[in-house]
Amino acid sequence: MKTYDLDHAATTKLDPKVYSKMKPYLETYYGNPSSLHTIGIENKKALNDAKKGVARLLNCDYKELIFTGSGTEAINLAIKGLAFKYPNKKEIITTKIEHKATLNTCHFLETLGYKINYVNLDPDGFIDLKDLEGKLNNNTLIVSIIWGNNEIGVIQDIDKIAEIVHAHHSILHVDAVQMLGHFKIDLQALDVDLMSFSAHKIFGPKGVGLLYKKKPIEIEPIIHGGAQEFNLRAGTENIYGIIGFYEALKNVHDVYLNQQQDLKDTTKYLYDQLKARFKFRLNGPDLNNHRLPGLLSLSFEGISGHVLQYQLNQRGIYVSTGSACNETSMEVSHVIQALHDHGEGTIRLSLGYGLSSKDILYIVEQFSDILEN
Ligand SMILES: Cc1ncc(COP(=O)(O)O)c(C=O)c1O
Repeated sequence: MKTYDLDHAATTKLDPKVYSKMKPYLETYYGNPSSLHTIGIENKKALNDAKKGVARLLNCDYKELIFTGSGTEAINLAIKGLAFKYPNKKEIITTKIEHKATLNTCHFLETLGYKINYVNLDPDGFIDLKDLEGKLNNNTLIVSIIWGNNEIGVIQDIDKIAEIVHAHHSILHVDAVQMLGHFKIDLQALDVDLMSFSAHKIFGPKGVGLLYKKKPIEIEPIIHGGAQEFNLRAGTENIYGIIGFYEALKNVHDVYLNQQQDLKDTTKYLYDQLKARFKFRLNGPDLNNHRLPGLLSLSFEGISGHVLQYQLNQRGIYVSTGSACNETSMEVSHVIQALHDHGEGTIRLSLGYGLSSKDILYIVEQFSDILEN
């Protein structure tokens, strides 16, 4: 049976070109980059070349980059790292549609006495900028906002958000994990203080995240030990992972960014085909508005998202009901719950590249088979 991975927001397959660059550092060049002998020094050089490469592509200084073990860890480091640095500031502003990495970090800090303020959202998931402005005060430690939403695809206006946050002398962290593969991120052009990324969403390896920390911003480490990552993330570096991050990001710039229109067109074709046959609600903004290409969150009536997911899986079509980290729960995703009263029949389709119109029609036929029988 031919299979269709429509779950690229959960993770992506490691690109063979990326893997070929990582492989020598798994098999041959095993040195610890902190060692002061040839095998260590050579690896330190390879590591620094990869870091400088990532910095060049993101247009920042490599000393502003802290490599971590995941996007989740980068987000934890941004928020907790700042909280530990400035213990007198006890309020955090975020939204109810963040990834669990942000929400549960905030919930943890709540147990330590922090107040979490959730900014109002419109029904498409866009932030109410006036409400954001009203919630900022002298006690605000950080504003943490997801840029491209992993469940409903809404893209926030980060420039406007940064302007408001900085007018109130606060600090902005942006979860850019889903944006990295779809947009050219230029950190000089963006006025953001902290930004989190992950390699496995861009056809890179799992187990590598990245936190950008603008030069003047100071944070405390959350993992203590050696002096790696400018004393901010102890532990022997994941050299092949960081090299994989660089190679994957190079591919994004050289290959995938040129295919965004195709991805949008394919997504629209699938949407139109489904819309012509079935009744459902599109969650997030409409297709011409600010949203991630390739991502459709659809709420059907009369069927649960988990049943639909199961039935599609039986037919070789892989989708999710929400964020992959919540997939074991049978509850409606917190993102859908934050925006709508009904969400039981929700599935997320996140397309990759190279689907033909024949593939799309096959996928739509499988929906018909399930929903009409
Ligand atoms: C928007 C967003 N933020 C953070 C994460 C966490 O990244 P990682 O899987 O590398 O921990 C994910 C991954 O699911 C995500 O989609």
